[in-house]
Amino acid sequence: MSNDSVRDAGRRRPAVPRLALASAAVGVLTAAAAAFTFTGSASAGTTLGASAAEKGRYFGTAVAANKLSDNTYVTILNREFNSVTAENEMKWDATEPTQGQFNFSNADRIVSHAQARGMKIRGHALAWHSQQPGWAQNMSGSALRQAMVNHVRQVATYYRGKIDSWDVVNEAFADGSGGGRRDSNLQRTGNDWIEVAFQTARAADPGAKLCYNDYNTDNWTHAKTQAVYNMVRDFKSRGIPIDCVGLQSHFNSGSPYPSNYRTTLQNFAALGVDVQITELDIEGSGTTQANTYRSVVNDCLAVARCNGITVWGIRDSDSWRASGTPLLFDGSGNKKPAYDATLSALNSGTTPTNPPTNPPTNPPTNPPTNPPTNPPGGCSATVSVNSWNTGFTASVRVTAGGSGTNGWTVSLTLPGGTSVVNTWNAQASGSGGTVRFSNVNYNGRLSAGQSTEFGFQGSGSGSGLSPTCSAS
Ligand code: G3I
Repeated sequence: MSNDSVRDAGRRRPAVPRLALASAAVGVLTAAAAAFTFTGSASAGTTLGASAAEKGRYFGTAVAANKLSDNTYVTILNREFNSVTAENEMKWDATEPTQGQFNFSNADRIVSHAQARGMKIRGHALAWHSQQPGWAQNMSGSALRQAMVNHVRQVATYYRGKIDSWDVVNEAFADGSGGGRRDSNLQRTGNDWIEVAFQTARAADPGAKLCYNDYNTDNWTHAKTQAVYNMVRDFKSRGIPIDCVGLQSHFNSGSPYPSNYRTTLQNFAALGVDVQITELDIEGSGTTQANTYRSVVNDCLAVARCNGITVWGIRDSDSWRASGTPLLFDGSGNKKPAYDATLSALNSGTTPTNPPTNPPTNPPTNPPTNPPTNPPGGCSATVSVNSWNTGFTASVRVTAGGSGTNGWTVSLTLPGGTSVVNTWNAQASGSGGTVRFSNVNYNGRLSAGQSTEFGFQGSGSGSGLSPTCSAS
Protein backbone atom coordinates (compact mmCIF):
# COMPACT_ATOMS: atom_id res chain seq x y z
CA MET A 1 0.00 0.00 0.00
CA SER A 2 1.40 3.37 -0.95
CA ASN A 3 1.81 6.15 1.54
CA ASP A 4 -1.10 7.91 -0.07
CA SER A 5 -3.34 4.91 0.31
CA VAL A 6 -2.39 4.73 3.96
CA ARG A 7 -3.25 8.39 4.38
CA ASP A 8 -6.47 7.95 2.48
CA ALA A 9 -7.47 5.10 4.69
CA GLY A 10 -6.71 7.20 7.75
CA ARG A 11 -8.65 10.09 6.38
CA ARG A 12 -11.91 8.24 6.12
CA ARG A 13 -12.32 7.95 9.85
CA PRO A 14 -14.59 10.81 10.83
CA ALA A 15 -18.03 10.26 9.31
CA VAL A 16 -19.58 7.67 11.57
CA PRO A 17 -18.14 8.80 14.90
CA ARG A 18 -19.13 12.34 14.13
CA LEU A 19 -22.68 11.35 13.38
CA ALA A 20 -22.77 9.47 16.65
CA LEU A 21 -21.34 12.50 18.35
CA ALA A 22 -23.98 14.59 16.66
CA SER A 23 -26.84 12.67 18.20
CA ALA A 24 -25.14 12.52 21.57
CA ALA A 25 -24.50 16.20 21.38
CA VAL A 26 -28.16 17.00 20.84
CA GLY A 27 -28.77 15.73 24.36
CA VAL A 28 -26.29 18.05 25.98
CA LEU A 29 -27.26 20.80 23.69
CA THR A 30 -30.24 22.07 25.59
CA ALA A 31 -28.15 22.90 28.61
CA ALA A 32 -25.28 24.27 26.55
CA ALA A 33 -27.58 26.50 24.56
CA ALA A 34 -29.77 27.54 27.45
CA ALA A 35 -28.79 31.15 26.98
CA PHE A 36 -30.29 31.12 23.51
CA THR A 37 -33.76 30.51 22.17
CA PHE A 38 -32.90 27.08 20.90
CA THR A 39 -35.71 25.55 18.91
CA GLY A 40 -34.72 21.92 19.34
CA SER A 41 -33.27 19.39 16.94
CA ALA A 42 -34.20 19.71 13.33
CA SER A 43 -36.83 17.51 11.76
CA ALA A 44 -35.80 15.94 8.48
CA GLY A 45 -36.56 18.12 5.54
CA THR A 46 -37.65 21.20 7.45
CA THR A 47 -34.27 22.84 7.80
CA LEU A 48 -31.37 23.29 5.42
CA GLY A 49 -29.02 21.06 7.40
CA ALA A 50 -31.50 18.25 7.93
CA SER A 51 -32.60 18.28 4.32
CA ALA A 52 -29.03 18.30 3.02
CA ALA A 53 -28.17 15.45 5.40
CA GLU A 54 -30.97 13.39 3.84
CA LYS A 55 -29.09 13.77 0.57
CA GLY A 56 -25.80 12.80 2.18
CA ARG A 57 -24.53 16.35 2.23
CA TYR A 58 -23.96 19.16 4.66
CA PHE A 59 -25.33 22.68 4.56
CA GLY A 60 -23.07 25.15 6.30
CA THR A 61 -22.48 28.79 6.94
CA ALA A 62 -19.59 31.10 7.68
CA VAL A 63 -19.62 32.07 11.34
CA ALA A 64 -18.06 35.07 13.06
CA ALA A 65 -17.03 34.42 16.67
CA ASN A 66 -18.15 37.83 17.83
CA LYS A 67 -21.72 37.06 16.73
CA LEU A 68 -22.03 33.99 18.93
CA SER A 69 -23.59 36.24 21.57
CA ASP A 70 -26.30 37.43 19.15
CA ASN A 71 -29.47 35.59 20.01
CA THR A 72 -31.15 35.77 16.60
CA TYR A 73 -27.95 34.76 14.85
CA VAL A 74 -27.33 31.75 17.06
CA THR A 75 -30.93 30.60 16.90
CA ILE A 76 -30.76 30.42 13.11
CA LEU A 77 -27.28 28.90 13.16
CA ASN A 78 -28.31 26.11 15.51
CA ARG A 79 -31.59 25.43 13.77
CA GLU A 80 -30.54 25.46 10.13
CA PHE A 81 -26.91 24.52 9.67
CA ASN A 82 -24.85 21.39 10.22
CA SER A 83 -21.46 22.75 9.19
CA VAL A 84 -19.55 25.92 9.98
CA THR A 85 -16.59 27.78 8.54
CA ALA A 86 -14.75 30.36 10.63
CA GLU A 87 -15.17 33.52 8.57
CA ASN A 88 -11.88 35.09 9.69
CA GLU A 89 -10.76 33.40 12.90
CA MET A 90 -8.59 30.63 11.46
CA LYS A 91 -6.71 32.85 9.04
CA TRP A 92 -2.99 33.42 9.43
CA ASP A 93 -3.30 36.95 10.89
CA ALA A 94 -5.72 35.67 13.52
CA THR A 95 -3.93 32.48 14.53
CA GLU A 96 -0.27 33.57 14.42
CA PRO A 97 -0.26 37.33 15.00
CA THR A 98 3.35 37.17 16.19
CA GLN A 99 5.70 34.71 14.59
CA GLY A 100 5.73 31.47 16.52
CA GLN A 101 3.03 32.61 18.97
CA PHE A 102 -0.32 31.09 18.23
CA ASN A 103 -3.71 32.37 19.34
CA PHE A 104 -6.67 30.10 18.78
CA SER A 105 -9.11 31.71 21.21
CA ASN A 106 -11.67 33.05 18.72
CA ALA A 107 -11.36 30.06 16.43
CA ASP A 108 -11.84 27.77 19.42
CA ARG A 109 -15.11 29.48 20.30
CA ILE A 110 -16.47 28.53 16.89
CA VAL A 111 -15.02 25.02 17.08
CA SER A 112 -16.52 24.42 20.53
CA HIS A 113 -19.90 25.73 19.41
CA ALA A 114 -19.89 23.43 16.41
CA GLN A 115 -18.58 20.38 18.23
CA ALA A 116 -21.18 20.68 20.97
CA ARG A 117 -23.85 20.49 18.29
CA GLY A 118 -22.33 17.84 16.06
CA MET A 119 -21.71 20.28 13.23
CA LYS A 120 -18.90 19.68 10.77
CA ILE A 121 -16.11 22.23 10.69
CA ARG A 122 -14.46 23.57 7.55
CA GLY A 123 -11.04 25.06 8.29
CA HIS A 124 -10.35 28.29 6.41
CA ALA A 125 -7.56 28.93 5.42
CA LEU A 126 -4.02 27.71 6.06
CA ALA A 127 -2.04 29.45 3.33
CA TRP A 128 -3.25 32.56 1.52
CA HIS A 129 -1.67 35.69 0.10
CA SER A 130 -4.24 37.83 1.94
CA GLN A 131 -4.86 38.37 5.66
CA GLN A 132 -1.29 37.52 6.51
CA PRO A 133 0.09 38.97 9.72
CA GLY A 134 2.39 41.95 9.17
CA TRP A 135 5.52 39.95 10.00
CA ALA A 136 4.76 37.45 7.22
CA GLN A 137 3.87 40.15 4.72
CA ASN A 138 7.38 41.48 5.18
CA MET A 139 9.07 38.15 4.56
CA SER A 140 10.22 36.48 1.38
CA GLY A 141 12.21 33.58 0.02
CA SER A 142 13.16 30.62 2.16
CA ALA A 143 12.35 32.41 5.43
CA LEU A 144 8.77 32.91 4.28
CA ARG A 145 8.56 29.37 2.93
CA GLN A 146 9.70 28.01 6.27
CA ALA A 147 7.28 30.24 8.13
CA MET A 148 4.41 29.12 5.91
CA VAL A 149 5.26 25.45 6.41
CA ASN A 150 5.50 25.94 10.16
CA HIS A 151 2.16 27.75 10.20
CA VAL A 152 0.40 25.02 8.23
CA ARG A 153 1.93 22.34 10.43
CA GLN A 154 1.12 24.03 13.75
CA VAL A 155 -2.46 25.00 12.94
CA ALA A 156 -3.38 21.71 11.27
CA THR A 157 -1.80 19.83 14.17
CA TYR A 158 -3.63 21.91 16.77
CA TYR A 159 -6.98 21.11 15.14
CA ARG A 160 -6.06 17.56 14.20
CA GLY A 161 -9.16 15.35 14.27
CA LYS A 162 -11.61 18.24 14.49
CA ILE A 163 -11.70 19.55 10.93
CA ASP A 164 -13.75 17.88 8.24
CA SER A 165 -12.12 19.81 5.38
CA TRP A 166 -9.29 22.32 5.32
CA ASP A 167 -8.90 25.05 2.75
CA VAL A 168 -5.17 24.39 2.62
CA VAL A 169 -4.49 26.97 -0.03
CA ASN A 170 -6.82 29.82 -0.91
CA GLU A 171 -6.98 31.98 -4.04
CA ALA A 172 -3.59 31.19 -5.56
CA PHE A 173 -4.57 31.74 -9.19
CA ALA A 174 -4.75 35.01 -11.08
CA ASP A 175 -7.92 36.47 -12.52
CA GLY A 176 -8.21 37.28 -16.18
CA SER A 177 -7.40 35.41 -19.31
CA GLY A 178 -3.85 34.38 -18.50
CA GLY A 179 -4.67 31.29 -16.50
CA GLY A 180 -1.52 31.51 -14.40
CA ARG A 181 -0.69 31.79 -10.75
CA ARG A 182 -1.37 34.95 -8.82
CA ASP A 183 1.78 36.85 -8.00
CA SER A 184 2.29 36.96 -4.22
CA ASN A 185 5.03 36.67 -1.67
CA LEU A 186 4.14 32.97 -1.32
CA GLN A 187 4.22 32.39 -5.07
CA ARG A 188 7.63 34.04 -5.23
CA THR A 189 8.99 31.42 -2.83
CA GLY A 190 8.69 28.94 -5.72
CA ASN A 191 5.93 27.35 -7.74
CA ASP A 192 5.87 24.28 -5.51
CA TRP A 193 4.57 26.22 -2.49
CA ILE A 194 1.05 24.87 -2.99
CA GLU A 195 2.03 21.22 -3.06
CA VAL A 196 4.34 21.72 -0.10
CA ALA A 197 1.43 23.20 1.85
CA PHE A 198 -0.76 20.20 0.98
CA GLN A 199 1.94 17.70 1.92
CA THR A 200 2.51 19.48 5.21
CA ALA A 201 -1.20 19.56 6.01
CA ARG A 202 -1.60 15.86 5.23
CA ALA A 203 1.23 14.95 7.57
CA ALA A 204 -0.22 17.13 10.33
CA ASP A 205 -3.86 15.96 10.08
CA PRO A 206 -4.25 12.83 7.98
CA GLY A 207 -7.97 12.69 8.76
CA ALA A 208 -8.96 16.03 7.24
CA LYS A 209 -9.95 16.42 3.64
CA LEU A 210 -7.57 18.84 1.98
CA CYS A 211 -9.10 21.38 -0.38
CA TYR A 212 -7.90 23.98 -2.83
CA ASN A 213 -10.35 26.93 -2.61
CA ASP A 214 -10.84 29.82 -5.03
CA TYR A 215 -13.32 32.31 -6.52
CA ASN A 216 -14.23 32.93 -10.15
CA THR A 217 -13.69 29.27 -10.83
CA ASP A 218 -17.37 28.58 -11.49
CA ASN A 219 -17.47 29.12 -15.25
CA TRP A 220 -15.96 26.14 -17.00
CA THR A 221 -14.67 28.18 -19.92
CA HIS A 222 -12.75 30.69 -17.83
CA ALA A 223 -8.97 30.50 -17.90
CA LYS A 224 -8.81 30.53 -14.11
CA THR A 225 -11.11 27.52 -13.87
CA GLN A 226 -8.99 25.69 -16.40
CA ALA A 227 -5.82 26.56 -14.54
CA VAL A 228 -7.14 25.21 -11.24
CA TYR A 229 -8.44 22.11 -13.03
CA ASN A 230 -5.00 21.53 -14.55
CA MET A 231 -3.33 21.90 -11.18
CA VAL A 232 -5.67 19.41 -9.53
CA ARG A 233 -5.20 16.97 -12.39
CA ASP A 234 -1.45 17.37 -12.08
CA PHE A 235 -1.57 16.85 -8.30
CA LYS A 236 -3.65 13.69 -8.72
CA SER A 237 -1.28 12.37 -11.37
CA ARG A 238 1.79 12.99 -9.19
CA GLY A 239 0.26 11.77 -5.94
CA ILE A 240 0.23 15.17 -4.24
CA PRO A 241 -2.44 14.82 -1.55
CA ILE A 242 -5.61 16.70 -2.49
CA ASP A 243 -9.14 15.61 -1.67
CA CYS A 244 -11.42 18.45 -2.62
CA VAL A 245 -11.87 21.63 -4.58
CA GLY A 246 -13.77 24.53 -3.09
CA LEU A 247 -15.72 26.80 -5.39
CA GLN A 248 -16.40 29.96 -3.44
CA SER A 249 -19.26 30.96 -5.74
CA HIS A 250 -19.74 34.62 -4.92
CA PHE A 251 -22.28 35.58 -7.57
CA ASN A 252 -23.33 39.05 -8.63
CA SER A 253 -23.98 40.95 -11.85
CA GLY A 254 -20.27 41.23 -12.59
CA SER A 255 -19.66 37.60 -11.83
CA PRO A 256 -22.95 35.85 -12.52
CA TYR A 257 -23.97 32.24 -11.95
CA PRO A 258 -22.85 30.53 -15.16
CA SER A 259 -25.11 28.16 -17.07
CA ASN A 260 -22.21 25.67 -17.24
CA TYR A 261 -21.77 25.57 -13.44
CA ARG A 262 -22.87 21.94 -13.27
CA THR A 263 -20.32 21.05 -15.94
CA THR A 264 -17.62 22.64 -13.80
CA LEU A 265 -18.71 20.66 -10.74
CA GLN A 266 -18.85 17.45 -12.77
CA ASN A 267 -15.47 17.95 -14.36
CA PHE A 268 -13.69 18.64 -11.09
CA ALA A 269 -15.43 15.66 -9.49
CA ALA A 270 -14.33 13.47 -12.38
CA LEU A 271 -10.72 14.13 -11.36
CA GLY A 272 -11.44 12.10 -8.23
CA VAL A 273 -11.92 14.90 -5.72
CA ASP A 274 -14.91 16.09 -3.73
CA VAL A 275 -16.36 19.39 -4.78
CA GLN A 276 -17.63 21.79 -2.15
CA ILE A 277 -19.44 25.07 -2.65
CA THR A 278 -17.66 26.99 0.04
CA GLU A 279 -18.70 30.65 0.21
CA LEU A 280 -22.00 30.88 -1.62
CA ASP A 281 -23.74 34.22 -1.82
CA ILE A 282 -25.88 35.57 -4.64
CA GLU A 283 -26.57 39.27 -4.83
CA GLY A 284 -30.13 40.23 -5.69
CA SER A 285 -33.60 39.76 -4.29
CA GLY A 286 -36.96 38.09 -4.75
CA THR A 287 -37.66 35.47 -7.35
CA THR A 288 -34.55 36.06 -9.42
CA GLN A 289 -32.28 35.49 -6.47
CA ALA A 290 -34.38 32.53 -5.33
CA ASN A 291 -34.15 30.90 -8.76
CA THR A 292 -30.38 31.19 -8.79
CA TYR A 293 -30.10 29.60 -5.36
CA ARG A 294 -32.35 26.81 -6.64
CA SER A 295 -30.10 26.27 -9.65
CA VAL A 296 -26.97 26.09 -7.53
CA VAL A 297 -28.52 23.51 -5.21
CA ASN A 298 -29.84 21.46 -8.12
CA ASP A 299 -26.41 21.49 -9.72
CA CYS A 300 -24.75 20.30 -6.55
CA LEU A 301 -27.31 17.55 -6.02
CA ALA A 302 -26.76 16.38 -9.59
CA VAL A 303 -23.09 15.67 -8.89
CA ALA A 304 -22.43 12.81 -6.50
CA ARG A 305 -19.16 14.26 -5.25
CA CYS A 306 -20.58 17.71 -4.58
CA ASN A 307 -20.86 16.91 -0.92
CA GLY A 308 -21.65 20.20 0.74
CA ILE A 309 -22.75 23.80 0.38
CA THR A 310 -21.70 26.65 2.65
CA VAL A 311 -23.27 30.10 2.49
CA TRP A 312 -21.01 33.01 3.42
CA GLY A 313 -23.02 34.28 6.37
CA ILE A 314 -26.49 33.96 7.85
CA ARG A 315 -28.42 37.23 7.52
CA ASP A 316 -27.91 39.79 4.77
CA SER A 317 -26.56 42.10 7.43
CA ASP A 318 -23.86 39.55 8.28
CA SER A 319 -22.53 39.49 4.73
CA TRP A 320 -19.25 40.99 3.58
CA ARG A 321 -21.43 42.36 0.77
CA ALA A 322 -24.40 43.39 2.90
CA SER A 323 -25.64 45.98 0.43
CA GLY A 324 -26.14 43.25 -2.16
CA THR A 325 -28.51 41.34 0.19
CA PRO A 326 -26.96 38.06 -0.99
CA LEU A 327 -27.97 35.62 1.75
CA LEU A 328 -30.93 33.45 2.79
CA PHE A 329 -32.19 35.48 5.78
CA ASP A 330 -32.97 39.18 5.89
CA GLY A 331 -31.44 41.52 8.42
CA SER A 332 -34.11 40.62 10.97
CA GLY A 333 -33.52 36.91 10.55
CA ASN A 334 -36.64 36.21 8.48
CA LYS A 335 -36.47 33.55 5.77
CA LYS A 336 -36.30 35.05 2.30
CA PRO A 337 -37.71 33.56 -0.93
CA ALA A 338 -34.13 32.40 -1.55
CA TYR A 339 -34.37 30.31 1.61
CA ASP A 340 -37.61 28.66 0.51
CA ALA A 341 -36.18 27.90 -2.92
CA THR A 342 -33.03 26.42 -1.39
CA LEU A 343 -34.94 24.22 1.02
CA SER A 344 -37.39 23.02 -1.59
CA ALA A 345 -34.54 22.22 -4.01
CA LEU A 346 -32.79 20.26 -1.28
CA ASN A 347 -35.99 18.38 -0.51
CA SER A 348 -36.89 17.56 -4.07
CA GLY A 349 -33.44 16.65 -5.28
CA THR A 350 -32.36 13.09 -5.80
CA THR A 351 -29.03 11.67 -4.86
CA PRO A 352 -27.15 10.13 -7.75
CA THR A 353 -25.60 6.86 -6.75
CA ASN A 354 -23.02 6.89 -9.51
CA PRO A 355 -20.50 9.43 -10.57
CA PRO A 356 -21.31 11.31 -13.78
CA THR A 357 -21.54 8.85 -16.63
CA ASN A 358 -19.37 10.77 -19.05
CA PRO A 359 -16.49 12.28 -17.17
CA PRO A 360 -14.13 14.16 -19.44
CA THR A 361 -11.05 12.15 -20.16
CA ASN A 362 -9.19 14.96 -21.80
CA PRO A 363 -8.42 18.48 -20.81
CA PRO A 364 -10.76 21.08 -22.30
CA THR A 365 -10.26 21.38 -25.99
CA ASN A 366 -11.47 24.94 -26.35
CA PRO A 367 -9.25 27.67 -25.02
CA PRO A 368 -11.29 30.03 -22.89
CA THR A 369 -10.25 33.24 -24.56
CA ASN A 370 -9.91 34.08 -28.22
CA PRO A 371 -6.68 32.49 -29.30
CA PRO A 372 -4.48 34.23 -31.81
CA THR A 373 -5.06 33.10 -35.38
CA ASN A 374 -3.40 29.75 -35.80
CA PRO A 375 0.18 29.91 -36.89
CA PRO A 376 0.69 27.44 -39.73
CA GLY A 377 2.76 24.87 -37.80
CA GLY A 378 5.01 24.66 -34.80
CA CYS A 379 4.12 27.12 -32.11
CA SER A 380 4.40 30.77 -31.24
CA ALA A 381 5.02 32.59 -27.97
CA THR A 382 4.30 36.03 -26.62
CA VAL A 383 5.50 37.50 -23.36
CA SER A 384 4.19 40.12 -20.98
CA VAL A 385 6.43 41.47 -18.25
CA ASN A 386 5.65 43.04 -14.92
CA SER A 387 8.79 44.82 -13.63
CA TRP A 388 9.92 46.47 -10.46
CA ASN A 389 13.25 48.04 -9.48
CA THR A 390 15.30 44.92 -9.17
CA GLY A 391 13.28 42.23 -10.83
CA PHE A 392 10.26 41.18 -12.81
CA THR A 393 7.76 38.42 -13.47
CA ALA A 394 7.13 37.29 -17.02
CA SER A 395 4.04 35.49 -18.31
CA VAL A 396 4.62 33.63 -21.53
CA ARG A 397 1.73 32.44 -23.66
CA VAL A 398 2.49 29.51 -25.95
CA THR A 399 0.09 28.90 -28.83
CA ALA A 400 0.17 25.76 -30.95
CA GLY A 401 0.25 26.06 -34.72
CA GLY A 402 -1.94 24.19 -37.17
CA SER A 403 -0.55 20.76 -36.29
CA GLY A 404 -0.81 21.04 -32.53
CA THR A 405 2.06 20.07 -30.24
CA ASN A 406 3.19 17.09 -28.22
CA GLY A 407 5.65 19.31 -26.43
CA TRP A 408 7.20 22.75 -26.81
CA THR A 409 10.29 24.72 -25.90
CA VAL A 410 10.47 28.49 -25.64
CA SER A 411 13.87 30.15 -25.87
CA LEU A 412 14.55 33.59 -24.46
CA THR A 413 17.71 35.60 -24.52
CA LEU A 414 18.03 37.48 -21.26
CA PRO A 415 19.76 40.85 -20.94
CA GLY A 416 23.19 40.76 -19.25
CA GLY A 417 22.96 40.54 -15.45
CA THR A 418 19.48 39.01 -15.57
CA SER A 419 18.76 35.55 -14.22
CA VAL A 420 15.74 33.33 -13.62
CA VAL A 421 14.79 32.98 -9.97
CA ASN A 422 11.90 30.57 -10.30
CA THR A 423 9.58 29.15 -12.91
CA TRP A 424 6.03 27.84 -12.95
CA ASN A 425 4.24 25.63 -15.44
CA ALA A 426 7.51 25.00 -17.31
CA GLN A 427 10.96 23.51 -16.81
CA ALA A 428 13.84 25.99 -17.22
CA SER A 429 17.32 25.08 -18.39
CA GLY A 430 20.41 27.16 -19.07
CA SER A 431 21.31 30.24 -17.12
CA GLY A 432 22.37 33.68 -18.26
CA GLY A 433 22.39 34.20 -22.01
CA THR A 434 19.72 32.02 -23.55
CA VAL A 435 17.30 30.20 -21.27
CA ARG A 436 15.03 27.44 -22.54
CA PHE A 437 11.64 26.73 -21.01
CA SER A 438 10.09 23.37 -21.84
CA ASN A 439 6.60 22.13 -21.14
CA VAL A 440 5.88 20.07 -18.05
CA ASN A 441 3.84 16.88 -18.18
CA TYR A 442 0.41 18.52 -18.08
CA ASN A 443 0.75 21.31 -20.65
CA GLY A 444 2.81 19.93 -23.52
CA ARG A 445 -0.04 18.60 -25.63
CA LEU A 446 -1.86 21.43 -27.32
CA SER A 447 -4.35 21.05 -30.09
CA ALA A 448 -4.12 23.37 -33.09
CA GLY A 449 -4.56 26.95 -31.97
CA GLN A 450 -4.73 26.06 -28.27
CA SER A 451 -2.74 28.13 -25.79
CA THR A 452 -1.16 27.58 -22.44
CA GLU A 453 0.76 29.90 -20.21
CA PHE A 454 3.87 29.59 -18.06
CA GLY A 455 5.76 32.15 -16.09
CA PHE A 456 8.99 32.91 -14.38
CA GLN A 457 10.43 35.40 -12.01
CA GLY A 458 13.69 37.09 -12.89
CA SER A 459 16.16 39.27 -11.11
CA GLY A 460 17.53 42.22 -13.05
CA SER A 461 15.88 43.65 -16.12
CA GLY A 462 13.07 42.01 -18.05
CA SER A 463 13.13 44.46 -20.93
CA GLY A 464 13.38 43.48 -24.57
CA LEU A 465 12.44 39.82 -24.15
CA SER A 466 11.67 38.19 -27.47
CA PRO A 467 10.60 34.55 -27.17
CA THR A 468 10.89 31.96 -29.91
CA CYS A 469 8.94 28.71 -29.75
CA SER A 470 9.67 25.29 -31.19
CA ALA A 471 7.23 22.41 -31.11
CA SER A 472 7.73 18.66 -30.98
O1 G3I B 1 -12.63 43.16 13.42
C1 G3I B 1 -12.21 44.40 12.88
C2 G3I B 1 -12.78 45.56 13.67
O2 G3I B 1 -12.27 45.50 14.98
C3 G3I B 1 -12.41 46.86 12.98
O3 G3I B 1 -13.01 47.91 13.63
C4 G3I B 1 -12.85 46.85 11.54
C5 G3I B 1 -12.43 48.09 10.78
O4 G3I B 1 -12.31 47.88 9.40
O5 G3I B 1 -12.28 45.74 10.88
C6 G3I B 1 -12.67 44.49 11.44
O6 G3I B 1 -12.06 43.47 10.73
C7 G3I B 1 -12.60 43.19 9.44
C8 G3I B 1 -13.00 41.73 9.41
O7 G3I B 1 -13.45 41.39 8.11
C9 G3I B 1 -14.11 41.41 10.40
O8 G3I B 1 -15.27 42.06 10.02
C10 G3I B 1 -11.52 43.45 8.42
O9 G3I B 1 -11.24 44.84 8.37
C11 G3I B 1 -12.00 42.97 7.07
O10 G3I B 1 -10.92 43.07 6.14
C12 G3I B 1 -12.42 41.54 7.15
O11 G3I B 1 -12.96 41.17 5.89
C13 G3I B 1 -13.03 39.80 5.65
C14 G3I B 1 -12.36 39.50 4.34
O12 G3I B 1 -12.49 38.12 4.04
C15 G3I B 1 -10.89 39.85 4.38
O13 G3I B 1 -10.23 39.42 3.22
C16 G3I B 1 -14.49 39.40 5.59
O14 G3I B 1 -15.07 39.50 6.89
C17 G3I B 1 -14.60 37.94 5.13
O15 G3I B 1 -15.95 37.64 4.86
C18 G3I B 1 -13.82 37.76 3.85
O16 G3I B 1 -13.89 36.41 3.47
C19 G3I B 1 -13.27 36.08 2.24
C20 G3I B 1 -12.78 34.66 2.36
O17 G3I B 1 -11.93 34.54 3.47
C21 G3I B 1 -12.06 34.23 1.09
N1 G3I B 1 -12.89 34.44 -0.06
C22 G3I B 1 -13.45 35.76 -0.22
C23 G3I B 1 -14.21 36.14 1.04
C24 G3I B 1 -14.89 37.45 0.85
O18 G3I B 1 -13.95 38.49 0.72
